Amino acid sequence: MSVFYVLLSWAAQAFALLCLLIFIAFLGYCLYIKYIHMKYDHIPGPPRGSFVFGHALTIQRIMKNDEVLHQQLLEWAEKYGPVFRVNTLHYVLLCVNCPETTKEILMSSKYTKDEFSCKRLCNLFGQRFLGNGLITARDHELWYKQRRIMDPAFSSVYLRSLMGTFNERAEKLMSKLSHVADDKTEATMLHLFNCVTLDVIAKVAFGVELDLLQNTTLFPKAIETCLKGMIYQVRDIFFEYNPRNRPFINEVREACHLLRTTGAQWIHERKTAMQNDDDVPKDILTQIIKSAGKEDNMTKEDEEFMLDNFVTFFIAGQETTANQLAFCVMALASHPDILEKVKKEVDDVIGMKQEISYDDLGQLIYLSQVLKETLRLYPTAPGTIRHVPEDRVIDGVHIPGGLDYFFNSYVSGRLERFFKDPLTFDPDRFHPDAPKPYYCYYPFALGPRSCLGQNFAQMEAKVVMAKLLQRFDFTLVPGQSLDIRDTGTLRPKSGVLCSLRHRDNNN
Ligand code: HEM
Repeated sequence: MSVFYVLLSWAAQAFALLCLLIFIAFLGYCLYIKYIHMKYDHIPGPPRGSFVFGHALTIQRIMKNDEVLHQQLLEWAEKYGPVFRVNTLHYVLLCVNCPETTKEILMSSKYTKDEFSCKRLCNLFGQRFLGNGLITARDHELWYKQRRIMDPAFSSVYLRSLMGTFNERAEKLMSKLSHVADDKTEATMLHLFNCVTLDVIAKVAFGVELDLLQNTTLFPKAIETCLKGMIYQVRDIFFEYNPRNRPFINEVREACHLLRTTGAQWIHERKTAMQNDDDVPKDILTQIIKSAGKEDNMTKEDEEFMLDNFVTFFIAGQETTANQLAFCVMALASHPDILEKVKKEVDDVIGMKQEISYDDLGQLIYLSQVLKETLRLYPTAPGTIRHVPEDRVIDGVHIPGGLDYFFNSYVSGRLERFFKDPLTFDPDRFHPDAPKPYYCYYPFALGPRSCLGQNFAQMEAKVVMAKLLQRFDFTLVPGQSLDIRDTGTLRPKSGVLCSLRHRDNNN
């Protein structure tokens, strides 16, 4: 019995010691947070909701209420000016809306992407996700090597050769929409655009036919689940520790796994074809395989690296374009005068032609303006972060070195300071003769780490929009929300439910 009491008293002492150590560690951490506050609190910023958590609870509330985080950042930018800080625990994020600084930082290859989000996107809840692929690679050499190898798959010569695929896939969407119009039903445009852009990327990047307008696979759902997981992983650092979130976390892990095993299978098939000297396209998949190193002495890490880029292209190359198209339809349907003008341009340039050529795209100038204006109000990938090690002065505020700078294209696109009457949808802001926005419009980011797929995406978007405008009159089904859903990328909350009619010229 006495042995039992001795053991109990040791356990009690050990427990008390543990509590004391935790308390001291917590106190030490609070002192560190206090030090961080003293170091950075001269930078303007909204009041913190909590000493320890900073603004994290506000962010958590916004996410819980399905609101747009960038809208809160816009309100703070209007109130606190071109540079302000956001605190989460000991981490300070600097939000910058100053064109000169945007130019200096984004246009230089000296500043790496931030460690925090790159690390958190490398693995999603412990399952490797974007790894060291093009978006998340921080090391300049590693990134540059990959980007150089990928460049040929995005050269204008290669992109021209994709016009056939863009036309063919857009045509499949048109026949689907034709049935919708005949049956007088309604179409969820976001869903249909997602099927098309996923079909396009699978076909042109990886040589695989998904044909999602006809077939269903688990792939789109897996991508959506990963995107959802990404936002929690980056914005809510406590998410994975809440046992109630376990089922969702497992779902995300399985979705990542599905993407990577599919990638492994497609890569294997292509490598076999390459080894057999079969004729293979010079597409993204071929470049991914080349980027991984010598085919005959490939290590496990090389294999993982290929899969990183496989997932990267699926994540980067699909949903952003689909969302842009859906926002564009939403904006046009809400602005009949602009819709008429762009339809007229399409009629003048392509008339009744089915196959749109690369040269036609160059002549669809007003449609380009419409697509640009869509991304000003609805930047589907709304920002980029850089780590800045040295001290700087921004707008008269001394910024100590070592902070991450957030350049937010949603915020800069909606600031009155940069765009007069910012909430008005006005494609003439991007008229060829209008002054170019000065480092305040960057939906594809800027500089060396800007979007590799920008031209690809805009060619694809133009082909789809031109065919849609050529063939159909569309209106929004009344009563739906025109709000934005923030899922890391931005998308229309309603899914853009439309009624369609064949245009008179086609009847
Ligand atoms: C409307 C459509 C698109 C938008 C708005 C968009 C926007 C962006 C933005 C803002 C970035 C910078 C991300 C960051 O700094 O973290 C980026 C990077 C990237 N995007 Fe896109 N993107 C689009 C379509 C595409 C497409 C279709 C592809 C591929 C086919 C693509 C491939 C990439 C890649 C590979 C990067 C990483 C570039 C690098 O760091 O070298 N994107 N995109």
